[in-house]
Amino acid sequence: MEKLTLNEPLTLKSGVTLKNKFIMAPMTTKMSFYDGVITTDELNYYALRSGEVSAVITAAANVQENGKGWEGELGVYSDKHIDGLSKLASTIKKKGTKAILQIFHAGRMTDKKKLRGEQPVAPSAVKAERPDALTPRELTESEILQLIESFKQATIRAIKAGFDGVEIHGANTYLIQQFFSPHSNRRNDRWGGSVEKRFTFINQLVDTITNTVNDHAHGPFVVGYRFSPEENETPGIRLKDTLYLVNKLANKNLDYLHVSLNDYKRVSISDEFKEKTILEYIHETINGRVPLIGIGDVRTKEDAGNVLQHSELVGLGRILLSEPHWVNKILNNKENLIRETIAQEDREELIITDGVWGFLEFMMPDRLK
Ligand SMILES: Cc1cc2nc3c(=O)[nH]c(=O)nc-3n(C[C@H](O)[C@H](O)[C@H](O)COP(=O)(O)O)c2cc1C
Repeated sequence: MEKLTLNEPLTLKSGVTLKNKFIMAPMTTKMSFYDGVITTDELNYYALRSGEVSAVITAAANVQENGKGWEGELGVYSDKHIDGLSKLASTIKKKGTKAILQIFHAGRMTDKKKLRGEQPVAPSAVKAERPDALTPRELTESEILQLIESFKQATIRAIKAGFDGVEIHGANTYLIQQFFSPHSNRRNDRWGGSVEKRFTFINQLVDTITNTVNDHAHGPFVVGYRFSPEENETPGIRLKDTLYLVNKLANKNLDYLHVSLNDYKRVSISDEFKEKTILEYIHETINGRVPLIGIGDVRTKEDAGNVLQHSELVGLGRILLSEPHWVNKILNNKENLIRETIAQEDREELIITDGVWGFLEFMMPDRLK
């Protein structure tokens, strides 16, 4: 029974059909050239992980040059990226997997070295509570409008490159989240203040992107939105704010919402939301209006079944790095053959290059041997 549900297709609002419930989560590879152009290693890395999942959401791609968050990042800020992105889309789509490009801007979560001397920009001149964080420069009104335009241009490039959709990366402390956060957004103009006003940027951004798709896509094209439910900073985003956001987004013309969680069982830091998991509160708030991708440390079929109790789709991140054939093994009862860690000698087979290995030492040290 469970096997049937996991392997059943789901048709999204746009008309795109996902062949099963498994989605590869966006994961930065650090494999692109210095200017965001894709490399052959990166294409091979995606080829290995495509085919079994119903969709691959790519690593975050920056929509403006000053939105670069790290070296080796995929770019979508110029037409020069379209050729490489076309190769990426067709690589992912070869065996029936949908290709979704994650589009983003790092905002204050970067530094002058990565921006070749430029000061990072953000909604307000408030630095992140991280070691070595830089104070960003506050964006002007016209720069904010230009940013929305850059997301629009990135969406058009994704369409031209043959992607099946884009995911708006409003999670993990980057620029879109920075507009919603009372920590990074201290503006007194129309873009900041109350929760409603901090939603203004997201509101305009989502509408611009969905309208762009209506105007430019030649067929069904997915638009998804990813968000992080909470911040630790005070002030910071709390689950109450996120439920406001989710409620607003569920009424928009989006194909899915995607929560960013490292553990699907996580419980809120807010006293008023301790009775259920964060995933459950979010799913209840959406109340069937739009599919939700649940995620966070899924390693077994049982985990996948648990996530699907409170979401429509299951996101898979780290497990696909160590086990590219996880989905087939789960669906064919070969769970005992799943590899949960990566050893040095597996790296060539798994296409884990030096850049990404260094990153994984930081992101998932417990899963490296
Ligand atoms: C190496 C690595 C890179 C990541 N890069 C991104 C990214 O580019 N965009 C994003 O939204 N999330 C990123 N994430 C978060 C994942 O999408 C996912 O939410 C997280 O790993 C939890 O899922 P998992 O437990 O299945 O790995 C990254 C995670 C890892 C491990």
